[in-house]
Amino acid sequence: MAATVGAETLPAVAVPVDQAKNAYWVHLDSLDHPGWGEVAARQLDAGLLSVGFTCSQGRHDSGRGTGVSQSSPIRSRPTVRQHDDKRHPAERQAPPMTSALSSLGVSTPVLAAPMAGGPSTSALVIAAAGAGGLGFLAGGYKDVEALAEEIDQVRSSGVLFGVNLFAPNPLPVDPAEFRRYARTIAPEGQAHGVDLLAVGTVEDDDHWSDKIELLLSRPVPVVSFTFAVPDPAVITSLRAAGTLVIQTVTSPSEALLAAEAGADMLVVQAPAAGGHSGTFTPQRTPADIPLPRLLGEVRRNVSLPLIAAGGLATPTDVVQSMRAGATAAMVGTVLLLADESGASLPHRAALTGPADRGTVVTRAFTGRPARALRNRFTDRYTDLAPLGYPALHHLTSPMRRAAIAAQDPERINLWAGTGHRHATAEPAARILRTLVSRL
Ligand SMILES: Cc1cc2nc3c(=O)[nH]c(=O)nc-3n(C[C@H](O)[C@H](O)[C@H](O)COP(=O)(O)O)c2cc1C
Repeated sequence: MAATVGAETLPAVAVPVDQAKNAYWVHLDSLDHPGWGEVAARQLDAGLLSVGFTCSQGRHDSGRGTGVSQSSPIRSRPTVRQHDDKRHPAERQAPPMTSALSSLGVSTPVLAAPMAGGPSTSALVIAAAGAGGLGFLAGGYKDVEALAEEIDQVRSSGVLFGVNLFAPNPLPVDPAEFRRYARTIAPEGQAHGVDLLAVGTVEDDDHWSDKIELLLSRPVPVVSFTFAVPDPAVITSLRAAGTLVIQTVTSPSEALLAAEAGADMLVVQAPAAGGHSGTFTPQRTPADIPLPRLLGEVRRNVSLPLIAAGGLATPTDVVQSMRAGATAAMVGTVLLLADESGASLPHRAALTGPADRGTVVTRAFTGRPARALRNRFTDRYTDLAPLGYPALHHLTSPMRRAAIAAQDPERINLWAGTGHRHATAEPAARILRTLVSRL
């Protein structure tokens, strides 16, 4: 079976996604596909063809054949990518592409970061897609039913989207240290009528298997992982289900691990980032390194497409990341005040307050390094908190909930990156478009 586009015949691999728009989707078993690449490139250049494809060898190709003559034989026989019929057609459609992301339909290289704990709403994800970018639902801290509901909401809007999960990388707390810390911070709970000494030690995996099962049974376009690289079998299964797999890394060595496990793309997260560091070794506070330098170092280790994240707050930041080798930028903090953000009122107020609180990397709230606006809690307990994720997250959670209800910013994890003073209260799509306005 061959697909004819204009005067050209594509190999039997091109799956019409939307013939009216000349949109095709192809899955390649091999990167060795110069003949097809050449045909596609000329069609793309002529504006005749929209095409996206994935490759099962851990890399995505731009689809633009290079240095290959028009008559080159098609040396490999790519196989048809099986679409999951349960997905909305808009999730499958493939407009003109220049990278793995644009092959999915992302036309603006800016991504709304997953932000668990409230800020990442379905509306934020839909708004990011509306700007031509890509947004992520934050799967962390949710049970599988709540996540499924959010996915359904976004899916029904017909836009492209991603789902982010915390990959298990337990950092079990020392029981004596846990009790000591609970006693130390108990007065902060008491301030809101919460007895932190009554909180047990919870070492759960955030419903990992159920969430993976959900994402395999009802595949989504993109899945991203942070905290660790999951078992390669998980990545393989997701990719076989047609999902693009993105891994957050914070160092060149983590990038290598992610590439070896089969990730399609990497989020390269610098320590300037708001929220938890994605580090695989949370025992160590991530070394301070500027994002462009980190991108360069990761690029030397892997050839996967890189998404820059961490402290990006202005159009100039984004330009610099692209110059340093990123194919897209991912932002979290600058969206916290967006109309569609679900950040709590005290979180918003702390970001916009007259005084610049500054940020600090702390494990006081969750037992794992995360960057937050400074407040009473980080000032008092950053140096006293033991390692222990997720036990410390569960320990401080009732205090944080009560503090949010009481509009008390001093006992809340005010996650924010170094660019927090650039956050603006306006529609997310406008924020994202402004960020890429100098590209
Ligand atoms: C409030 C908040 C929550 C976050 N939650 C998550 C999360 O659930 N999963 C994740 O991979 N990253 C999370 N992050 C990190 C972001 O994905 C991203 O790496 C970071 O926001 C980029 O840096 P920036 O905040 O300076 O833009 C969070 C960041 C913030 C600010």
